[in-house]
Amino acid sequence: MIHALSIDDFDERTLRLLLSWGKEYFEAEDLAHNPDAELLAGRRVALWFDEPSTRTSLSFEAAVKNLGGGVVRIDEKCSSAVKGESWGDTAAVLAELGCSALVIRTSDADVPSALAEEDALSVINAGNGTVEHPTQAIGDLLCLELSGYLSTHLKLAIVGDSAHSRVANSHFRLLPKCGIDVTVCAPAAWLPGSLPSLSSREKERIQLTTSLEEALSGATVAMYLRVQKERHADNNISLYEEFIEKYQLRSEHLSRYPSLKMVMHPGPVNWGIEISPSLRNSPKCAILRQVRCGVAMRMALLRYLLGGEEE
Ligand code: CP
Repeated sequence: MIHALSIDDFDERTLRLLLSWGKEYFEAEDLAHNPDAELLAGRRVALWFDEPSTRTSLSFEAAVKNLGGGVVRIDEKCSSAVKGESWGDTAAVLAELGCSALVIRTSDADVPSALAEEDALSVINAGNGTVEHPTQAIGDLLCLELSGYLSTHLKLAIVGDSAHSRVANSHFRLLPKCGIDVTVCAPAAWLPGSLPSLSSREKERIQLTTSLEEALSGATVAMYLRVQKERHADNNISLYEEFIEKYQLRSEHLSRYPSLKMVMHPGPVNWGIEISPSLRNSPKCAILRQVRCGVAMRMALLRYLLGGEEE
């Protein structure tokens, strides 16, 4: 059984395979009419989201259906987990009920791995607390590939609330592995406290700074992250104001830093906080493209996990 719990579950060969399949799906005229539209015929995937989601939840649903499979949604509050059923038993029951995979988003960081331990069905982490969001990161990688930036010596700036971001945590594992230099930029309180265990060569690719000037100078891509107010113990208004004043991306930055070709954000965006609303329709804004990449990449991932193909 293959699981997708962390970026660490994907070696470089698998990532290349996912990029190649994701690219095929993305470039299809219509994601729903693809050569693998029957790949999951008769198969079911369970979706379990105990935290809010629009794009991850619906893009997994679209990805399953685009490959001909069916979706079962589980309402956590109405599941027997609230009566104390173990995660192992829950996974076994879902498999017995005909589910081949379970996509889970949960505030409890340990749940995806506890479900995977039973090895009854493929478990896909759709965001566990502040720990990881691997499918968002790999979808973003597809967006970089399709824009032609993966093949160059890419310098990418990650700006925003990295300290509370599971997307950032997945990117810290993923981007250095792909040879990308990352500058992480935020007010000191929102810089990551620790980085994942990477080789010293990979670690050298991640720099931390509180200076937006340093992060954006020479960067090709700026990936902004959501200010995650719901994860802040205290709503520090002066910190939010400082962020807007010193770090918000505005039109003037696109002129001041001509190397900057693409603006990304995993969403949902707090327009007017991370990014000025004036950039919403900029040709450099790739945020909606990231959403389509997310569907294509999740189709590729489902094909990898459930398609039974040899690599
Ligand atoms: N990027 C992301 O995870 O968005 P949702 O919370 O809408 O799924």
